[in-house]
Amino acid sequence: DAAFETLLVETRGAVGLVTLNRPKALNALNAALIEELGRALEAFEADEAVGAVVITGSEKAFAAGADIREMAQMSFADVYLADLGGAWARVVACRKPRIAAVSGYALGGGAELAQMCDIVIASTTAKFGQPEITLGIIPGFGGTQRLARAVGKAKAMDLILTGRMMDVEEAERCGLVSRVVAPERLLDEAIEAAEKIAGFSRVAVLAAKEAVDVAQEAGLTEGMRFERRTFQSLFATDDQSEGMAAFLEKRKPSFRNR
Ligand code: CAA
Repeated sequence: DAAFETLLVETRGAVGLVTLNRPKALNALNAALIEELGRALEAFEADEAVGAVVITGSEKAFAAGADIREMAQMSFADVYLADLGGAWARVVACRKPRIAAVSGYALGGGAELAQMCDIVIASTTAKFGQPEITLGIIPGFGGTQRLARAVGKAKAMDLILTGRMMDVEEAERCGLVSRVVAPERLLDEAIEAAEKIAGFSRVAVLAAKEAVDVAQEAGLTEGMRFERRTFQSLFATDDQSEGMAAFLEKRKPSFRNR
């Protein structure tokens, strides 16, 4: 897309596809890329035809982290005034489900971008890590928070304090990865999952995602209350009537997102 310098952006049916495209820097996440990714997701959010989004990189690297070349000379005042990391708010504000399709390196900010996605599909070649400590810094795009919630304290501390990489088996075992597939299946698997999601009632999909996201923040009693009220509210939708009628009539439902 001519409007983007660091991304390839397209829609495939009801799926928005973003390919990180800074191959010479292993898709290092510079300010331009983060801004463009926010813009691309806002456009998908606004596009009624899009029901889910896939974010992928190259075969060698999903993303090798924040751009070290860009950050190397920055002072505290520089990063504070630029609010380095703050621009990701636009990416996570997208309510439509995001699927990361990860091949190769997902390090530092790259691992954190995967953690910002709702589903992580990884190829057998994927490697995850938070190597920030080796650079004299710490994760700054959510790595200490989302990773600890996703994999627990013991594994998060190990990764963040030693900077080591983990292979895809370990990443799946500890709950960072949703599915592992052969490299040649990666993009198809992610797009098929996104298509499937996009075919369900959009109201139900967004409500389901919202409720699971609440589980990352709220206590169990609050979370259960939110889930129950949201579950009950879906009985106000046409799609609930349609979905249940279709089941009983042994036919495919036709959801209208109403
Ligand atoms: N930023 C900028 N450039 C990067 C980069 C990064 N994070 N990662 C790789 N590159 C560049 C390299 O500088 C190199 O460029 P040149 O050809 O111009 O020298 C090119 O991409 C290819 O990289 P390598 O030659 O290093 O490739 P490799 O196959 O030998 O090694 C790698 C691959 C192990 C991923 C290695 O590139 C690496 O360790 N990268 C840095 C990983 C890292 O530390 N990430 C954390 C960044 S900090 C962060 O993300 C902070 C945060 O949480 C907010």
